[in-house]
Amino acid sequence: MITGAARGQGRAHAVGLAAEGADVIALDVPAPVDTVPYRLGSREDLDQTVRLVEKYGRRVIAFEADVRDLAAVGEAVTRGVSELGRLDIVLANAGIMNSIGPAGDRDGAFYDAIDVMLTGAWHTLRATAPILVDQGDGGSIVITSSTAGLRGLRTHLEAGSAGYVAAKHGVVGLMRMYANLLAEHSIRVNTVHPTGVDTAMVRNDAFDEFVSEHPGLARSLKNALPKPLLDPEDVTKTILWLVSDDARYVTGTTVPVDAGFCVRT
Ligand SMILES: NC(=O)c1ccc[n+]([C@@H]2O[C@H](COP(=O)([O-])OP(=O)(O)OC[C@H]3O[C@@H](n4cnc5c(N)ncnc54)[C@H](O)[C@@H]3O)[C@@H](O)[C@H]2O)c1
Repeated sequence: MITGAARGQGRAHAVGLAAEGADVIALDVPAPVDTVPYRLGSREDLDQTVRLVEKYGRRVIAFEADVRDLAAVGEAVTRGVSELGRLDIVLANAGIMNSIGPAGDRDGAFYDAIDVMLTGAWHTLRATAPILVDQGDGGSIVITSSTAGLRGLRTHLEAGSAGYVAAKHGVVGLMRMYANLLAEHSIRVNTVHPTGVDTAMVRNDAFDEFVSEHPGLARSLKNALPKPLLDPEDVTKTILWLVSDDARYVTGTTVPVDAGFCVRT
């Protein structure tokens, strides 16, 4: 089950998991978020994910649902699991970048960031963990945080940035709590922390404008390795390992996929 599966990293994870033999419950297409200055995932994007998964001969059930809506997430998971038979892997991946928008609704940007990326991740855990526990044979949950969940962003005190950093640190707390809570059921919970990834979240006019207005930000976002933006599939590969039996004793960890961003001096 993958949230934010219509495009970008979520789509890459859906395709990567399908290639490894998984059926997929794909969730995306949120209600509009006023403070986000670029287009979010659409029905057409979600349909494209469906087609790409089906190319691998796997089944996929796609839902238009918003992670801010616990009932909608719960219904999608319940229906998806009843159609596909079981649940093994949960990827709480949906996210927004609203630190870059017009300076208008700064407080709103903070609340939206928390609602989508912290409360939304919690909703995803709430809706899925009981199913994994009831099945009785383990499972793996990965929450997509960010390098902004391991260190602060050196940027202006824009409300969206504060919300992004707080939400991405917040999911680490959620992960650590659920890793403890679910360990006796052999359910593992980890976070991944990507550096910049080449998706629509950073490939849009608003992001370009924000970076050109704040040149210090561009400098502070540099990786140690000579690779400015990762491909979504680079994150998928780490997640494929984390959810596999090769990582069966890895739980409660924060896994950077950051091209050395966090150690760069
Ligand atoms: N792109 C980057 O540079 C980068 C870096 C580090 C971490 N991340 C994180 O990676 C994750 C995936 O982002 P991406 O890079 O693929 O960007 P993306 O914008 O291409 O994909 C994010 C998806 O999440 C969906 N989404 C947003 N809010 C939602 C909601 N309320 N309910 C349901 N779906 C919702 C969007 O519609 C979109 O399809 C996010 O959590 C993001 O914060 C991204």
